[in-house]
Amino acid sequence: MENLAEKTAFITGGASGIGLGMARAFLAEGMKVFLADIEADALEGALHDLRGEGGRAEGTLCDVSDRDSVMRAAEAVRKTFGAVHVLCNNAGIDAGGPFGTLRPSDWDWVLGVNLMGVVHGIDAFLPEMRDRGEGGHIVNTASMAGLRGTPGMGPYCAAKAAVVSISETLAGELEGSGIGVSVLCPGWVRTRILESARGRPERFGPPRDRPANAEEAARYAAVSELIESGLDPLAVGRRVVEGIRRGEFYLITHPDWRVNVEGRFEAILASFDAAKGSPALAIPAPQLKGKL
Ligand code: NAI
Repeated sequence: MENLAEKTAFITGGASGIGLGMARAFLAEGMKVFLADIEADALEGALHDLRGEGGRAEGTLCDVSDRDSVMRAAEAVRKTFGAVHVLCNNAGIDAGGPFGTLRPSDWDWVLGVNLMGVVHGIDAFLPEMRDRGEGGHIVNTASMAGLRGTPGMGPYCAAKAAVVSISETLAGELEGSGIGVSVLCPGWVRTRILESARGRPERFGPPRDRPANAEEAARYAAVSELIESGLDPLAVGRRVVEGIRRGEFYLITHPDWRVNVEGRFEAILASFDAAKGSPALAIPAPQLKGKL
């Protein structure tokens, strides 16, 4: 998508952090933004600030883990601005914690927001985007954590890897349709992600006690510092604008993190070489000729 002016962006988790950074970057392009967020005060504050900066910004309360809530938000944006051209499935949370400290409800919450929230967003907007036939762009927020598993972040990494995967699937399915797909994979960004418990819906039960042990306390302290000194969310938003214009699929914001994925991909490729010489696989292949 080249021309963004006068187009509408719908951003989940738009009241804070990266979502708000995207909103500012889109407004700078002359777009209209519609924020969908679970936190009422933050949403009101964000809309107030964006309007004060001269932006055309509206929004609604929405819980992306609740399919009906996302469908209602889709109705609300259509009533307000009409068609949505850029869909940003960005809302996300971190429950943290190593295996042994996580409860099933923590898994439900992280997968409900970080994975199913993206699925609900696609389901709510893609049919109309397709029918309209004017193209558009879908940006799904994953993470560098979606490109490599990390100790102490099981549910988060699992959900983010799934977001990378469904984005790849979607890009394949939409090839030639005029609807672009990007998957945003940031490293540390200066946001309120470590305070995610503030937006935990009641049906997922109370937040877990964090940190659960000394090891987690040390990790939490280190991550807090890294987030504190992380990238400005506006820079991430501007990278998203650039990525939409260029039609980039993987949107990387931390080029110096390349080494993190190199190690993983080298290990995967080396495993193919190991399989080549494996005696365990030296069983004659079943004779399928004529049976398929
Ligand atoms: P943030 O906490 O500042 O913003 C997240 C926003 O999502 C908040 O406004 C929150 O109210 C909203 N939200 C939470 N649960 C929701 C729900 N059920 N329904 C609707 N809205 C909900 O955090 P941040 O960092 O801006 O997070 C945005 C995305 O960026 C997330 O998907 C996160 O996983 C991802 N990310 C963040 C990184 C970082 O270092 N901050 C790094 C990589 C990815």
